[in-house]
Amino acid sequence: MKLTSVLFVAAASAAAHPNATRTKVILENDWSSAGFIPFLLALDAGWDVLGLIGDTANSWALQTSLHGLATLEIGNLSSCIPVYKGADFPLLNTPELFAMWEQIHGDLPWQGVFAPENLTAEALGSDPTSGNPQRISPAAFVEGFPNATLAGKHAAAWMIEQVHLYPGEVMIYSGGTLTNIALAVRMDPEFASLAKGLVIMGGYIDVNLYQASGSVNQADINSDINLMLDPEATKIALTASFPNISNAANQVFPDQEYLDTVYQVKNKYTTLMYNNYGTIFPFWDETAMFAVLDPSNVINSTQFYLDVDTAWSSPSYGTVHVYQQALMPRQQTLQLVNYVYEVDAKKLKSSIKRAVQYPTSCEKMQRGW
Ligand SMILES: *[C@@H]1O[C@H](CO)[C@@H](O)[C@H](O)[C@H]1NC(C)=O
Ligand SMILES: *[C@@H]1O[C@H](CO)[C@@H](O)[C@H](O)[C@H]1NC(C)=O
Ligand SMILES: *[C@@H]1O[C@H](CO)[C@@H](O)[C@H](O)[C@H]1NC(C)=O
Ligand SMILES: *[C@@H]1O[C@H](CO)[C@@H](O)[C@H](O)[C@H]1NC(C)=O
Ligand SMILES: *[C@@H]1O[C@H](CO)[C@@H](O)[C@H](O)[C@H]1NC(C)=O
Ligand SMILES: *[C@@H]1O[C@H](CO)[C@@H](O)[C@H](O)[C@H]1NC(C)=O
Repeated sequence: MKLTSVLFVAAASAAAHPNATRTKVILENDWSSAGFIPFLLALDAGWDVLGLIGDTANSWALQTSLHGLATLEIGNLSSCIPVYKGADFPLLNTPELFAMWEQIHGDLPWQGVFAPENLTAEALGSDPTSGNPQRISPAAFVEGFPNATLAGKHAAAWMIEQVHLYPGEVMIYSGGTLTNIALAVRMDPEFASLAKGLVIMGGYIDVNLYQASGSVNQADINSDINLMLDPEATKIALTASFPNISNAANQVFPDQEYLDTVYQVKNKYTTLMYNNYGTIFPFWDETAMFAVLDPSNVINSTQFYLDVDTAWSSPSYGTVHVYQQALMPRQQTLQLVNYVYEVDAKKLKSSIKRAVQYPTSCEKMQRGW
């Protein structure tokens, strides 16, 4: 079996609080027209979604934040779940540096936001890549352009505020780059330890043979683009003292029969999923969210100490390197992470189906179910 990836660092006990049994979560992602399933899964599990952050990964943070807002709005969820925009640029990386790195180390099959700017593609509905991070591609909003507005605070500052408000209760989820989490870690030395944990999509291990010996698509699903777009932030976030870090990804794929089944109930979410999700890619971001919603969702996992390669001269720049305790580095502090081999695939698919067919409302979330 392929080693997949969802990293999870979890869980101090919740303080006595009326809502203490409901885990709180901040979901950070490069939101897209059909990227709403992770927050619907969290709501479906009865979690309290404090807000979303749109980050730079497949496109720039402004565009992904607006997708986050729009995909909340179509479910009438934008009045109770705010969206904060993350930083435009990675800590150091730029489209120009990335293009230079590719010339030396080879092209990635999917370049995310660092793909060359193509205004023709944007006019036809692609999200913006490279060029000016402040521009928006309205044609990409097949879900509708948002009417609600973004919350007016820096994403990192807001996350810090939330973990102080609810110490030990806030799970941080990331399906994109770790730039904003790294900023929060550096702004506040208590940020990581006050969170309930960090779960990310990404963190592939031992996949070089898959990259070299199959189709370009096989190489694509084995390349760690979220981490590689901002290697320095990845290292800061994944070596910070979160009480529990976890990671997961390539195990479960949708197929047409499954998409047809979900579409038997017609609403805006099932329609977008049916028309825009596709069957080429695994349930990446969904698997990462699912892995932490209930301990029994993970069937097989392991633990090790994790570092991130931050040498620009390396073909593995931005990807993880792991150690057993007896052999781990002595001159840096690494974290013990949970590494998910396998999730309950049947339950993942039934959870996604229920979450998308019967999305939670603001009223239900505020009542606390
Ligand atoms: C970390 O998370 C995993 C997976 O949910 C869980 O099994 C483990 O007990 C957690 N560890 C701590 C220290 O909370
Ligand atoms: C959102 O609200 C509108 C108007 O009240 C309603 O028609 C629609 O069904 C609601 N959508 C969802 C997903 O609840
Ligand atoms: C830009 O996008 C258009 C439309 O998708 C495509 O036909 C064209 O080949 C792209 N240009 C480059 C340089 O990739
Ligand atoms: C915002 O309102 C316009 C006009 O009513 C509508 O066409 C659009 O779909 C709405 N956006 C969302 C995300 O619902
Ligand atoms: C867990 O996954 C590993 C890696 O694929 C495998 O070697 C091991 O047999 C699995 N254990 C169980 C109990 O399924
Ligand atoms: C419980 O959580 C809901 C949703 O975030 C909130 O509206 C409500 O005020 C909370 N109740 C208490 C007693 O904190």
